[in-house]
Amino acid sequence: MLILGIESSCDETAAAVVRDGQELLSNVVSSQIATHLPYGGVVPELASREHLRAIVPVVREAASRAGVCLEQVDAFAVTQGPGLAGSLLVGITYAKALSFALSKPLIAVNHLEGHIHAVLLEHQESRNTDIPLPALALVVSGGHTHLYIVSGSKATQWNYQNVGHTLDDAAGEAFDKVAKLLALSYPGGPIIEALAKHGNPHAIAMPRSQIKVHEKKKAQRVDPQPRRYDFSFSGIKTAVLRFVETHAMQDSIEKRRRELARVPNPKPEDFVPHLDQLALDLIASFQEAVVTDVVSKTLRAAGDFEVESLIISGGVASNERLRSEFVKQAEREGIKTFFPSRGLSTDNAAMIAAAAYPKLLAHDFATEHFSAEASLALG
Ligand code: KG4
Ligand code: ZN
Repeated sequence: MLILGIESSCDETAAAVVRDGQELLSNVVSSQIATHLPYGGVVPELASREHLRAIVPVVREAASRAGVCLEQVDAFAVTQGPGLAGSLLVGITYAKALSFALSKPLIAVNHLEGHIHAVLLEHQESRNTDIPLPALALVVSGGHTHLYIVSGSKATQWNYQNVGHTLDDAAGEAFDKVAKLLALSYPGGPIIEALAKHGNPHAIAMPRSQIKVHEKKKAQRVDPQPRRYDFSFSGIKTAVLRFVETHAMQDSIEKRRRELARVPNPKPEDFVPHLDQLALDLIASFQEAVVTDVVSKTLRAAGDFEVESLIISGGVASNERLRSEFVKQAEREGIKTFFPSRGLSTDNAAMIAAAAYPKLLAHDFATEHFSAEASLALG
C-alpha cells in the first residue's frame, strides 16, 4: 500500500511516499529558513505564500523520486493540525484536490502523531519489530513540549494520553528566542547546539524551571488533575535576558548582528570569532538547563507510569546533548530509548504518511468537508 503524505503546518513544505507504513521510498522537504531568517522566527503570511509556491513541485518530486506516478498511490495523507491555519490550508486544499481528481481516499493526520510515528517508521524499517509498549512519547519541537503515554496492543492501534505539556514556550521556541536575543541565526536550535560545544555548560547558574502559581491554577482550570509533568521555559529564557542586561552584553550583541548581517548564509564557525567566552558559556549553560529540565521531567514521568520505552521526537530531538543525556539516564533505569534519525526529527511528510497507514487499514478516511485545525490536540 502506497501513501503519499503532505506536510505544511509550519515552515517546511514536504511530501513523501511510504510503503506499508514502514518503507520510505522518498522524502522531499523544501525549507523556508531563508525566508524567515531576517525575522528570527516564522512569519505566518510569508509561510503560506511559500507553501503555495512549493507545494506542486514538492509533491511531484516526491512521486518521481519514489518512482511512482500519482495514479499508483493508494491514498493521500495530509496534516490537519496543529499548526498555522493558513499554512495547513495550502496542504489540505492540494491533498483534497489530488484525492478528488484521482478518486483516492484522503487521510487527515495529527502532526504530533506524525512526529511519534517517525520513530516507528524507522524502527520497523531497520528491525521489523514493534516498540515495547506502554511507551512515553515526548514531542519536543518549536511548537510543542508534550508528553504522551502510548499504549495499545500493536503498532497499528496506538492510543495516546497526554500527561504533560509546556505552560508557556515550547523548548524549541526557547532555543529560537534565545538565539534571536543573542544575534545568532534562525532556527536557534542547531546554532546553539554547535556553539555550546565552545562554552562551559556549568559556568552560569540557570534557574531550575519553576511553574508559577497562577500558571498552575490556569492549567488546573482546564484540567483539574494535578500535572506533575508540565514544563515551563520562560524562566530560563528570562534568566538569559537578565544575564545579558546585568553583564552589559547588548553592545557586543548589536555589533555581532551588524557584522554577521554582511555574511551570506553564516555557518556556526562564522559566529565563533564574534563571541567572547562569556557569551559562549551563556549559550552552553542555557542549552544545559533546557536539556536537564526536559530529561529529568520526562524520566520522572517514565518511572511513575512504569513505561517500557521512551520515544523522543520533534526538532529538538536532533540535539546530540539531549540524546546522549536521555540514553545515559534511561539506560540506568532499564528503559529503552528510541529517536528518529536527524532528518526525520524535524518536520517532514514521511511521518505523516507513516501515521496514516493504520488509518488506511481501518478505513478511517477524511470527508471532503474536513478543514485545518490550528489547535488540534492529541489524546
Ligand atoms: O519539529 P520542528 O521541525 O517543527 C515544529 O513542529 O516546531 O522543530 C523545529 C524546532 C525549532 O524550534 C528549532 O530551533 C528546534 O526544533 N531544533 C533544535 C535543533 N534542531 C532543531 N533544537 C535544539 N537542538 C537542535 N539541534
Ligand atoms: Zn513538528
